[in-house]
Amino acid sequence: MSGHGEPQPMTARKSAPLKGTAAVPGDKSISHRALIFGAMAVGETKITGLLEGQDVLDTASAMRAFGAEVIRHDAGSWSVHGVGVGGFREPADVIDCGNSGTGVRLIMGCMATTAMSATFTGDASLRKRPMGRVTDPLSLFGARAYGRQGGRLPMTLVGAANPVPVRYALPVASAQVKSAVLLAGLNAPGDTVVIEREPTRDHSERMLLGFGAQLHVEKGPEGHVITLTGQPELRPQSVAVPRDPSSAAFPVCAALIVEGSDILVPGVSQNLTRNGLYLTLVEMGAEIEFQNPRTEGGEPVADLRVRFSGNMKGIEVPPERAPSMIDEYPILSVVASFATGKTVMRGVKELRVKESDRIDAMARGLEACGVTIEEDEDTLIVHGMGAGGMPGGATAKTHLDHRIAMSFLVAGMASQQPVTVDDASPIVTSFPIFEGLMTGLGARFGQE
Ligand code: S3P
Repeated sequence: MSGHGEPQPMTARKSAPLKGTAAVPGDKSISHRALIFGAMAVGETKITGLLEGQDVLDTASAMRAFGAEVIRHDAGSWSVHGVGVGGFREPADVIDCGNSGTGVRLIMGCMATTAMSATFTGDASLRKRPMGRVTDPLSLFGARAYGRQGGRLPMTLVGAANPVPVRYALPVASAQVKSAVLLAGLNAPGDTVVIEREPTRDHSERMLLGFGAQLHVEKGPEGHVITLTGQPELRPQSVAVPRDPSSAAFPVCAALIVEGSDILVPGVSQNLTRNGLYLTLVEMGAEIEFQNPRTEGGEPVADLRVRFSGNMKGIEVPPERAPSMIDEYPILSVVASFATGKTVMRGVKELRVKESDRIDAMARGLEACGVTIEEDEDTLIVHGMGAGGMPGGATAKTHLDHRIAMSFLVAGMASQQPVTVDDASPIVTSFPIFEGLMTGLGARFGQE
């Protein structure tokens, strides 16, 4: 839901060693998709482990507004009675996607090839974010978008009555745009083709196959060529949502920088399109053991044993790794502050159009905590201060961005003086149990 209540400041103080098991909630990307694909299948999709964060709850409400029956049975246990591809009904009211770029962009995709119109809005963060990146390809199917200047929400999308399939080369590495085009292609006759130069998270492709769509991926000189055959009947599925590696990043990184820590983080995805942070941390010298590799909910996972790592070194993060760790740069820049030497993050300009301008939010907050930062449009460089070296003693602005809020609370767990975030309320969008989980490990958080 758009609109936030009063800001909720929160302060993190230097923590005792973290101990125990950090079982993080379900993956946000897969949770959105389970609801959306469930709504487009015919019959009942059963979901376990659904993330009950606000972003996902907003997608559940949207699917109801388009005519699907979405029922919560128990914590994480939901069913969706889908209406089939092309079976959506026109919503009677504005669709409010709250803080969620994934929600609004995927939902625009799945209604763009059905003859109806829908009006979308979101909170102050989402209303600033560019929607042209999805409405441009959706217009090739025949949809029309009427938004504010610069392609911003609120926006009305008029779906194509006679959609045509498209062939689209992604101009930005974005799984949201890729997924919006694939979802639109579901209700277009013939083959829709999406070409991505750099691989991005592949949950849509994996799940579409699971739901019975005809889809194949070829690797060619132009990158991944994904071909989807339109107008399938999607079969309902049982979806067991694996844990979210982007949420796991917070306890993992906290344990790396809080002296004496030793924790277990079970079931962290090792999907190559999501595990860039973990590769980077290992290269920096993080002590992480990847135990018990297996498959859960269709994703390769491992249990991570994470110990305090006082000798991490700054590295140059390979720019081509960015799509596989795009949401993890804020927390990586915190870890980099506690390493020695420079950590150089290039090719990261997409961070400027996330829930906030994440390069700016991290740079300003870390500088206030005493860290030296260099930045340009596409680059963030952190000059590490070594283990225990960050002074802290500052308030960071979170700009309605959950990952900025969690990153600075983790920073405050290891810095010399406390770190306050001006507003911790956005954390509910992706990680509603963050405070309880972290304090259960030993974090010292206080409301102020
Ligand atoms: C997501 C894709 C990423 C990521 C977002 C979730 C998804 O965005 O930042 O949190 O579920 O497809 P982009 O694909 O726009 O980079």
